[in-house]
Amino acid sequence: MSASATRKLFVTNALPYANGPLHLGHLVGYIQGDIWVRFQRMCGHEVTYVCADDAHGTPIMLAAEKAGMTPEEFIAPVKTAHAQDFADFHVAFDHYHSTHSEENRELSERIYAALDRHGYIVAREIEQAYDPVKQMFLPDRYIKGACPNCGTADQYGDNCENCGWTYSPRDLKSPYSVLSGAAPEWRPSEHYFFALSKMQVEIRAWLDGAQVHDSVKAKLREWLDAELKDWDISRDAPYFGFGIPGKPGKYFYVWLDAPIGYFASLLAYLGGDHARLDAVIGAGSGYEMWHFIGKDIINFHGLFWPAMLRGAGLRQPTGLSVNGYLTVDGAKMSKSRGTFIKARTYLDVGLNPEYLRYYFAAKLGAGVVDIDLNLEDFVARVNSDLVGKYVNIASRCAALLHGHFGGRLAAQFDDEEGLRQRYHGGDTAIRYGYENREYGLAAREIMTLADEANGRLQSDAPWSLVKGGEAERARAHRICTRAINEFRLLTLYLKPVLPRLAREAEAFLGIAPLQWADAGKLLLDHPIKPYHPLATRIDPAQIKAMVEASKEDLGPSAKPAQPAAAAADASRLPPPAAPISIDDFGKIELRIARIENAEHVEGADKLLKLTLDLGELGKRQVFAGIKSQYAPETLIGRLTVVVANLAPRKMRFGLSEGMVLAASHGDGRPFLLAPDAGAEPGMRVK
Ligand code: 2FM
Ligand code: ZN
Repeated sequence: MSASATRKLFVTNALPYANGPLHLGHLVGYIQGDIWVRFQRMCGHEVTYVCADDAHGTPIMLAAEKAGMTPEEFIAPVKTAHAQDFADFHVAFDHYHSTHSEENRELSERIYAALDRHGYIVAREIEQAYDPVKQMFLPDRYIKGACPNCGTADQYGDNCENCGWTYSPRDLKSPYSVLSGAAPEWRPSEHYFFALSKMQVEIRAWLDGAQVHDSVKAKLREWLDAELKDWDISRDAPYFGFGIPGKPGKYFYVWLDAPIGYFASLLAYLGGDHARLDAVIGAGSGYEMWHFIGKDIINFHGLFWPAMLRGAGLRQPTGLSVNGYLTVDGAKMSKSRGTFIKARTYLDVGLNPEYLRYYFAAKLGAGVVDIDLNLEDFVARVNSDLVGKYVNIASRCAALLHGHFGGRLAAQFDDEEGLRQRYHGGDTAIRYGYENREYGLAAREIMTLADEANGRLQSDAPWSLVKGGEAERARAHRICTRAINEFRLLTLYLKPVLPRLAREAEAFLGIAPLQWADAGKLLLDHPIKPYHPLATRIDPAQIKAMVEASKEDLGPSAKPAQPAAAAADASRLPPPAAPISIDDFGKIELRIARIENAEHVEGADKLLKLTLDLGELGKRQVFAGIKSQYAPETLIGRLTVVVANLAPRKMRFGLSEGMVLAASHGDGRPFLLAPDAGAEPGMRVK
C-alpha cells in the first residue's frame, strides 16, 4: 500500500481486567497505541480505535464475592475508573466497552457456533480439581501443595519456585485449595475444546504474512514447531461469564470471549449495525486490524485468536504490536518502595499526563523491550526536551514579536528553502519512526531539530538585534519568524505524543489543527497570540509525593517506627527520636534468634511466617513484613535480632510472639539485622 493511499484501520488495545486500578505499567501499551492512532489520523487515514474492560473469569468472581458484591456491581465502578484514567492520559478510544455486554454475548455465541459448525469444537471428559468446601472446580493457580521433587511447601501446581521442577497440579504432595484449605478431589467433567491442533498450517500461513516483529514471529514459530494442544474453552459453574448455549452449567472461558470483546466494542460503537461490523471483521475486509498487546499475551493473540477467526470464517489480524514490561528505577515495580504507581496517583500529584507520554515515546522501539521509568531521568528529560528545547523557542520569540513587531510574523525569512529541505529530511525519519512504532527514533530526530533551532536562535540573538537600526530590527523579525515556523513544525511532529500541548500551541499560533500534509507549508505574515507558558518544569517534589503516596505499609513486625511526615523529608531519613533513659532502653529485651523455618503466609502480600529458636527462651512464631526482599528458603538457618519481650499480638494469620529487627528507609526495602559470626541463639543483645 502506498504511503499516500488512504488506509482504513481498526485498532485495539488489550482489554484490562476489571479487577483493579490501572498502574503506570499498563499505560505503556495504551500510550503506544494511542500515539500510533493519532499519527495515522494526522496522515489522513481512517481509524476506529476501541477497547473495553475484560470482565469475566474466576478471579473477578471471587473478588466480587470477597467484596460482598455481585460481579456486575463489582465491575461497574472499575470500568468507570479505567475509562476515566484513559481519558485523562489522553488515550482517546472511540469507544470503551465491557466484555460483559450483550454485544459480546451475541458475538461469542456466533463465533462459537461457527467453530462448532466447522468441526473445530471437540467435547472431552477431563478430571479436574474440585474444592469440596467452596463447591467449585479450581483453576490450576488455586491449588497449592508441596513440590513433588524437593518437598518445598506452598508451591503452585505448575512449577516449583525453589527447585524449578515442572509438573502438573495432580503431582503436588499434600495439595490444598487456596480458597478453603481443603484437599481437592479429582472429579470428572465434560469440557469443550477448540481444535487448535488442526490449525497449525493455517496459523503459520497467517503469521508469514502478518506484520509482527521478528522476535515475536520467532517465538510463535517455536510454539508452532512443537505440537499445538487443543485449547479448553469451557469452564464449569460457578463462573462469571457467558453460559455456553445448549450446555447447562458450562461457561465460555474468559479468554474465549475476551478478544471477541474487541468486536463487541466495535459493534457498540457502530450502534449495533451488523452490516458495518461485518465490513470490518468479515473475510475479505478492506480494513487493517491491529492489536496492541503486552508480551505476556502473545500466545493468545498470535495463536488462539488468529486460529479462532480463521475457524469461524472471519478476517485475521493485520499486525500485532507487542510491548514489554515497565520497570521503575531499574527494578520491578514495588509497593514497598513506592514504585508501584497507579495512573491516578500520578495525576493526583499534579504531573502532566503528556510528560509520561513523551517519556515513554522517547524510550519505545518496535521490539519487545522492557522500558525503564527512571524517575530522576524522567524529570531531567522532560524539563530539558519539552520545556528547555521545544517550548523555549516559542517563549523567546513570542515576547520579541509582541514587544517589537505587533505580534505579527514577517512576510518572509532568510533561507526558506534551507528550512524546507532540512525539515523534509527530518519528516521522512519522523514518519518512519511513528509508522513503525519506533517512537524513540522519531523523538530523537525531533529533538535534534529543536536543538538546531535553539542553537541558531542563540547565535542569531534577535534580542540584541531589536536594539539596533532598521535593518537589524528587520533581520530580528525574520529570525523570529523562522524560529516560530520551526516551532510550528516541531508541534506538528510532537502532536501524536502531546495532543493537548499541540492544541494549545495551535491556539497560540492561531492556526487550524495541524495535519501531516501541513508539514510543507510556512506560516508568514500572520498574527500570533501573546505567549502563555505552554509547559512548566516538573518539580522533583511532585515525584517524591507520588512515590510516598504509592507506598504501602509493610507488615507490623519489620516496620520501623517512623512518623509519616518523615517520609516526605528530602533526606528520606527519619527525624531523630526523642531521647530515652537507659532504664527505658533496659525494658527492651533483645535476643539473638536462629530462623529455623520461614514460609509464605497464605493471603498475605508482605508477610513471612518465621519460626525462631531463641535458645534458652525456646521457640517463637513471628510474622515479619519482609517478603518483598527475602525468599523464605534463603532465611532458614540465619541468625537475627529479635525483640523477645514484646507482648504477643494476635494477627489475622495467627499469633506473633516477638519482632525481628530490620533497617529500612521509611517503608522501603528491609535489611534484616544479623550478628557477627559466633553469636548463638538466645544471647542477649545490649
Ligand atoms: O492479560 C490481560 O490483562 C487480559 N485482560 C487481556 C485481554 S486482551 C483481549 F484479548 F481481550
Ligand atoms: Zn521443588
